[in-house]
Amino acid sequence: MRRLLAAAAVLLAVVTAIAVWPLFPSFENRPSSEVCVGMPGDFPPDSVRRFPEAGVFVVCDGKGIFAVSGKCTHLGCPLQWDEKKDDFRCDCHGSRFDAEGRVIASPAREPLPHYAITYREGVGLVVDTSRASTDPKEWKKEPYYFPLGDER
Ligand code: FES
Repeated sequence: MRRLLAAAAVLLAVVTAIAVWPLFPSFENRPSSEVCVGMPGDFPPDSVRRFPEAGVFVVCDGKGIFAVSGKCTHLGCPLQWDEKKDDFRCDCHGSRFDAEGRVIASPAREPLPHYAITYREGVGLVVDTSRASTDPKEWKKEPYYFPLGDER
């Protein structure tokens, strides 16, 4: 009887491990939080470029470059850049964000996160979506802002 219980316990452990394995992906299988968006010269002054695969917009304000989330902070719908109004709009429920990501029309209440953007020699500008700030006081500082003429 003891052997039967031990075998059942081992079988249960193996079945449980197989069942929960997909819930804990290995580090190798995790998608990278970094995406290369190009060289600083690829972004003309006053330009906004979308990187849908990374869920970000990269904006050049003429003095520097920053990366802002492409997802609405209300319920996560993808944002569109409205060139005529110079803002980001969400077609789901009508939220709007100014060109830096501040809320200008609800229902969204939180600004768009800005992501770290750094220049890597031989690679270019790299956006790291694991490092984000929703504090406008940080948005014009490194690592959330890449000043033009700062390519090192
Ligand atoms: S998800 Fe954007 S306004 Fe609701």
